[in-house]
Amino acid sequence: MKSYKIAVIEGDGIGREVVPEGIRVLEEAAHRFELSFSWQHFDWSCETYLKTGRMMPDDGLEQLRPFDAIYLGAIGYPGVPDHVSLWGLLIPIRRGFEEYVNLRPARLLEGITSPLHGRNAGDIDFVIVRENSEGEYSQVGGRLNRNTEADMAIQETIFTRRACDRIIRYAFELAGTRKKHVTSATKSNGIVYTMPFWDERFAAISKKYPDVKTDQFHIDILTAHLVAHTDWFDVVVGSNLFGDILSDLGAAVVGSMGLAPSANLNPEREYPSLFEPVHGSAPDIAGKGIANPIAQIWSGAMMLEHLGERQAAHAVEQAIFKVLASSGVRTRDIGGKASTRDMGEAIAAEISAATAEPAR
Ligand code: NAI
Ligand code: MG
Repeated sequence: MKSYKIAVIEGDGIGREVVPEGIRVLEEAAHRFELSFSWQHFDWSCETYLKTGRMMPDDGLEQLRPFDAIYLGAIGYPGVPDHVSLWGLLIPIRRGFEEYVNLRPARLLEGITSPLHGRNAGDIDFVIVRENSEGEYSQVGGRLNRNTEADMAIQETIFTRRACDRIIRYAFELAGTRKKHVTSATKSNGIVYTMPFWDERFAAISKKYPDVKTDQFHIDILTAHLVAHTDWFDVVVGSNLFGDILSDLGAAVVGSMGLAPSANLNPEREYPSLFEPVHGSAPDIAGKGIANPIAQIWSGAMMLEHLGERQAAHAVEQAIFKVLASSGVRTRDIGGKASTRDMGEAIAAEISAATAEPAR
């Protein structure tokens, strides 16, 4: 029996509610496909920060290093500034473990109504490939003259050839397994050094993939096209900031933040990769047991895929699709009254029901 060691960081807010449902479903899939998981929980969160002054211990990365993967809920809560929580935990993990690909699929599923008029299941199916190691999220810069009239802030954007090339290459490889189309998110009219550099690297890498169709749009019109012409897109590659913004847009057009999964990948597998929903800790609904756990569960399917458990990953996805298409179980964000737990149980039950079907 194959066994996987998973580090679990539930984090804050609804992270604590959706992660247990993810584990419930993954356990069911493990049972069906004769795998086993050992889950080790790390209580690293804003609550921990308020008690200890640290989001994670000094040797946090060393503690995570031996795991096969990291399964994370969400980080951030009122009372701790968002840049403190993000830079104290998630960003050090993404960078320390060279998880330079942030993969964020957006797919409109049967049974879900898009806020966009006239779109049906299958009409929206694109993946945002976000650069996850540098770009606009940099620690180069500073503040001067705090609390005076001359108060100021400078933040530098870092684009390296190494990081641009590897993320763009990843996007082309991924497109090769899909509809063979890559769109680049740019802004080389306004941002005159980094973005023309990004465009140059995109053009250079694209030459190596002559069978993949390419286009590029400035980020402003790209957001409009991603709403008005969702069918134009297959793989969209963007910098750290642009990819982040586009992925929430992707979640919105496919019906809910609660339906958007993501993977932070170290494609070389030198370090553990991290799987988490696109959404945050949702303080507005935390503690009520009403969050939609599908983004978390689907991120678990992406984890199975990365671990090489393709059949199990497929079974989890199919169970999600089937529950949405035909069960009537719906959380509030998608128009129902079901609880977080009801949804997790319905998806787990779907996996075990499929087990009970006679082998064909
Ligand atoms: P958010 O994603 O937490 O919430 C945005 C809106 O979507 C809220 O109205 C929320 O109720 C709804 N929503 C999100 N997930 C949902 C789910 N599973 N089911 C139903 N509704 C859902 O983003 P927001 O409000 O900007 O950030 C809240 C906190 O989360 C902040 O502290 C922020 O820094 C943090 N955050 C953390 C992230 C992470 O850990 N990767 C990502 C984004 C935000
Ligand atoms: Mg975000």
